[in-house]
Amino acid sequence: MSKIAIMGAMPEEIEPLLEKVENIKKTEYGKNSYYEATYRGKNIVIAYSKIGKVFASLTATILIEKFGCDRLLFSGVAGAINPDLNIGDLIIADALCQHDLDITAFGHPHGFVPEGEVCIATDKSLRDIAKKVAEKNGLILKEGIIATGDQFVASTDRKDFISSTFQADALEMEGASVAVVCDALNVPFFVLRAISDSANDEAGMDFDAFLESSAKISAEFILNMVESIEP
Ligand code: ADE
Repeated sequence: MSKIAIMGAMPEEIEPLLEKVENIKKTEYGKNSYYEATYRGKNIVIAYSKIGKVFASLTATILIEKFGCDRLLFSGVAGAINPDLNIGDLIIADALCQHDLDITAFGHPHGFVPEGEVCIATDKSLRDIAKKVAEKNGLILKEGIIATGDQFVASTDRKDFISSTFQADALEMEGASVAVVCDALNVPFFVLRAISDSANDEAGMDFDAFLESSAKISAEFILNMVESIEP
């Protein structure tokens, strides 16, 4: 039977999952905790990576290579770029890019390194499942480009740069690194984020105020998706 990885970056992003799953077995590995569990008859492994691209790459790799996960769902919060996105809204990534990857000095576009690609697309069948879940539950699900970088963005200048360079709709600090790992290892993956702030001057305060509630919105949606994934 298949094993679904569900990862977040912060404890707040996986706690709502751990409250709902069954038969939890905790394993410490590589300075993180991994929770093997079941949900509605499906085998899952849950972990939070810690913030940023390096920790997220490590956790995604461990979920796949050590725990044998054959699909990966990321759940968490993001800063909004697209003005249509408000706090608590859900967005799924069509594709993800690294906004802080910069070797433009050598004539390459932002976000590109040789043998890589600027944007990595998520798995279409997982996106389709998400759309069906949204429809069934009367939820609005936006879809777009998510930009990732090792920066908490709290400036309209930086946000405008990311928007105009990558046409991104939301930004966060892990998704694109998970995309690189899953793409390299041929594991279908999916990234869902609920908006916690608008990456502007007030982002720090909004993030603190809405991290928990938005993380819960995302986690609950992910569990609905797990139910709909074929074993
Ligand atoms: N995740 C949620 N909000 C964010 C922001 N403003 N910058 C980076 N990552 C985020």
